[in-house]
Amino acid sequence: MFERQLDCAWRIVAAYERLLGAMVGFARAFSDGAAIAYLADVYVAPHCRGLGLGTSIVQGMVDDGPGAKFRWMLHTADAHELYARFGFSAPDSTLMQRDFGMPAVRD
Ligand SMILES: CC(C)(COP(=O)(O)OP(=O)(O)OC[C@H]1O[C@@H](n2cnc3c(N)ncnc32)[C@H](O)[C@@H]1OP(=O)(O)O)[C@@H](O)C(=O)NCCC(=O)NCCS
Repeated sequence: MFERQLDCAWRIVAAYERLLGAMVGFARAFSDGAAIAYLADVYVAPHCRGLGLGTSIVQGMVDDGPGAKFRWMLHTADAHELYARFGFSAPDSTLMQRDFGMPAVRD
C-alpha cells in the first residue's frame, strides 16, 4: 500500500542526515494540483524529534510549495498544535467523511 501511496503522491518532502544521508523525516501529500491537497504521514525519526524538523517539513509542504494557496486537509490524533501554526483548525460544517469500509446506504 505504501508503494502505491508514494507512486500517487503529488509531493513528498523529506529530511536527510547530512553525513550518512539517512532519511529522518518525511511527509507526503496528494492533490488535484489546483485547489485542494491532503497532508499525510508526517513523521520524524524519534532521535531527531524536538529539533524543528517537523515544523520545517510541514512548512516546506504547505507554506513554501506550489500548494500555498490551496485548501489543505489532514487527519491526525496528535500534534494538533504543530498544524495549528500553519492554519489547520477543526473542520467547518461543510466537511463530510466516509470511514474505511463503510457500506453504501441506498434507499
Ligand atoms: C509530530 C512530529 C512529526 C513532530 O516532529 P518534530 O520534529 O519533533 O517537531 P518540531 O521539533 O518541529 O516541534 C514542533 C512543535 O510541535 C510540538 N509537538 C511535536 N510533537 C507533538 C505531539 N505529538 N503533540 C503535541 N505537540 C507536539 C513540539 O512540542 C513543538 O513545539 P515547540 O516549538 O513549542 O517546542 C513527530 O513527533 C513524529 O513523527 N511523531 C510521530 C508521528 C506523528 O504523530 N505524526 C503526526 C500525525 S500525522
